[in-house]
Amino acid sequence: MPITARSTPNIALIKYWGNRNDGLRLPAADSLSMALNTPSVEIIVDDSDVLDIHSFESDGRERRMTMKHVLRFNRHLELTKQYLAELGSPEAIPASVSITIHSAIPPGIGIASSAAVFSCLAQAYAGLIETERKLSREEISVIGRLGSGSAARGAFDGYVALEAGTGDAIDSAKAVPVADDQHWLLYDIIIVPSRKEKEYGSTEGHSLARTSPLFPKRVQEIPRRQRECIDAIRTRDFEKLQRVAEEDCLDMHEVMRTSTPSLQYLTRDTRLILEEITVYRRMKRLPVLYTMDAGPTVHLFCPAEAKEDVLHFAHEQQGCTVFVAHTGKGAHVIN
Ligand code: PMV
Repeated sequence: MPITARSTPNIALIKYWGNRNDGLRLPAADSLSMALNTPSVEIIVDDSDVLDIHSFESDGRERRMTMKHVLRFNRHLELTKQYLAELGSPEAIPASVSITIHSAIPPGIGIASSAAVFSCLAQAYAGLIETERKLSREEISVIGRLGSGSAARGAFDGYVALEAGTGDAIDSAKAVPVADDQHWLLYDIIIVPSRKEKEYGSTEGHSLARTSPLFPKRVQEIPRRQRECIDAIRTRDFEKLQRVAEEDCLDMHEVMRTSTPSLQYLTRDTRLILEEITVYRRMKRLPVLYTMDAGPTVHLFCPAEAKEDVLHFAHEQQGCTVFVAHTGKGAHVIN
């Protein structure tokens, strides 16, 4: 029986950048994100004799799968089998699968499309094997992480931490819930200056993190930031959240910039938007924070009372595409 799952991006407020084990995507440090309600991806999986993958855009056009993409899905399936074997259910998943992806998320521009895709696929696999073995949300997060580290966080609703753990066991890093999507409604007004896909994907980027002289300090600082961020979310303290999220985001981009080769995901457009939002929020005394992933896209998080002003600001940005999202659910099966 085919299984369909749905998921959305999750945007980090404490960023995951760099692994202690690249092959298993075991992160070097903790991270924390908020799940969005939109844009979404749906994935249908079913038994198949050979790995068969098709991916469609929201207008129905088929997206070309490169060899690199196919190898990534293949490796993810192999790692999922390895993990299920370690859980004592080696036969749970079929020898191979067909995967059909319908995604409304533009890839490669900093809207966490791979987090959405692999959290969705992990959930679809969990649905496919449910009669053999029922997986917990934490176990689903491990399967997501094996495809894209940040996908681990897509296994839960709302605000989610990825606990890095220690050692090299396949399940030594997993997601845990911090607060559900009803706890605190925050908007993410997403400003996309360019739809050009980045040259260096985050998989390559993570493996360069440790070439930055700033990386050890970053890893050292994260436990404190993670605690502050969790505390800010639990007490709904926006000012505190802004301070720690912006500190962490700028620090990650400095690590990227000082790695070898240097990775510069932020463009002139990104920097202009940051300058302008900083002036605008001071002028209007607006609660709004910025954060950027591995791309030029700017995420402006704000509570409901600031939404209209932030949206107005976003629409003033020439030549940019704007998405509006808010706190949402993690991956789930829809049939
Ligand atoms: O999950 P990956 O390998 O696509 O890495 C995600 C990296 C960032 O988006 C930059 C940060 C994060 O925590 O989501």
